[in-house]
Amino acid sequence: MSNSMWGGRFADAPDAVLEAINASIDFDRRFYAQDIRASKVHVAMLAATGIVAREDAAAIFKGLTEVQAEIEAGNFTFSRALEDIHMNIESRLAEIVGPAAGRLHTARSRNDQVATDFRLFVRDALDALDLSLAQLQTALVDKAIEHSATVMPGFTHLQSAQPVTFGHHLLAYVEMIGRDRSRVTDARKRMNECPLGAAALAGTSFPIDRTMTARGLGFDRPTANSIDSVSDRDFVLETLSIAAICAGHLSRFAEELVLWSTPQFGFIKLSDRFSTGSSIMPQKRNPDAAELVRGKSGRVTGALVAMLTVMKGLPLAYSKDMQEDKEGLFDALDTLDLCVAATAGMVADMTPDPAAMRRAAGSGYSTATDLADWLVRVVGMPFREAHHVTGRIVAKASETDTPLEKLPIEEMQAVEPRITEEVFEVLGVRNSVKSRTSYGGAAPDNVREQAGRWRRILRKE
Ligand code: ARG
Repeated sequence: MSNSMWGGRFADAPDAVLEAINASIDFDRRFYAQDIRASKVHVAMLAATGIVAREDAAAIFKGLTEVQAEIEAGNFTFSRALEDIHMNIESRLAEIVGPAAGRLHTARSRNDQVATDFRLFVRDALDALDLSLAQLQTALVDKAIEHSATVMPGFTHLQSAQPVTFGHHLLAYVEMIGRDRSRVTDARKRMNECPLGAAALAGTSFPIDRTMTARGLGFDRPTANSIDSVSDRDFVLETLSIAAICAGHLSRFAEELVLWSTPQFGFIKLSDRFSTGSSIMPQKRNPDAAELVRGKSGRVTGALVAMLTVMKGLPLAYSKDMQEDKEGLFDALDTLDLCVAATAGMVADMTPDPAAMRRAAGSGYSTATDLADWLVRVVGMPFREAHHVTGRIVAKASETDTPLEKLPIEEMQAVEPRITEEVFEVLGVRNSVKSRTSYGGAAPDNVREQAGRWRRILRKE
């Protein structure tokens, strides 16, 4: 038997392999609610414009509500032969409503239908993502306030660079996630146009009201070009790229959690709730959740690359290749959602060790820049010369493995006679970090101010 929806010109049924490669029902059933919502608004518009009789529209509307209830109660039989969610719903609707159900598909095609449904789905998903990112920011800000004055080593090249504060380091991630969230807002605005009514690709001869449809679905306006409407998957690509960037941020943080929780660093202890044991080594506390956040970012980036590749050579307008937009996006968003939750959980639960961080902050001559700055400020040396002089002092100190603040003044004076006892004030890590008061710098006062700013922003939302 040929396909009941489009089989008019076919004598034979599709091969089982065609059915297997063609069907999307196993995954696109996920946006059944969006499909039904869009159909309801579409049929209401068809009635308002006199294209479909009010009684038929009302029957369709009621039938769609019934279909939704069946799906939600688990009483709906999804059929692969009916390919996708659109035809599964419409076919069941015909069983409930009778021939009038056939009027629902007037002035639309699955091409504009899927573009609309998927936009609605992605829009909802972006709103949910924004919410969970705000929760992660809150967890980070809370810890940053607690540790606004906790000194830790700042790194470049993963070598000790200059002392910073733990709070300042955490707020770096709050900024990143803030940008992720602003990308979500931007993308949402751009995608918020309604493709429904573009039909297959050329628009329709029926006197539809696309503005009414757009409004009914919460879109800002209808899309302006029917060909673009059914060909565009920018909103998928943008969402995936936001997800990939965000997953990348989480992955960098996860890498730091892995490092910090090693006995060698010992900067933090992850809670029991977020650590796993080893089946052979009884002493182990493994940071599996952090490793998986790091690892799963690969999947999210993979979904972006896959979709960029799917889209890049497609001629206008719709091609079935575009059905490949769904699984990658679902997986990327589910994965990201889990990673955000795991990160927030690890942050809220972790116990930092300020003494270990402070010890590490003092090693590796991390206040050498403070010495050079002192030579500029007090002695009046050009910075380049001060850098060189300081380098010689560090070389001397490291011969005996002596920290700068413990190096006898005579040894420093042997390199630069104008150095006085006063210099010791800037050589301790606490003073070093306190002095970083330039806007955006690591000083505890700055951290309190910036964390306070974020807290106000997050509470107002
Ligand atoms: N399942 C299809 C998709 O996801 C719906 C659109 C089908 N359109 C068509 N002309 N075959 O893209």
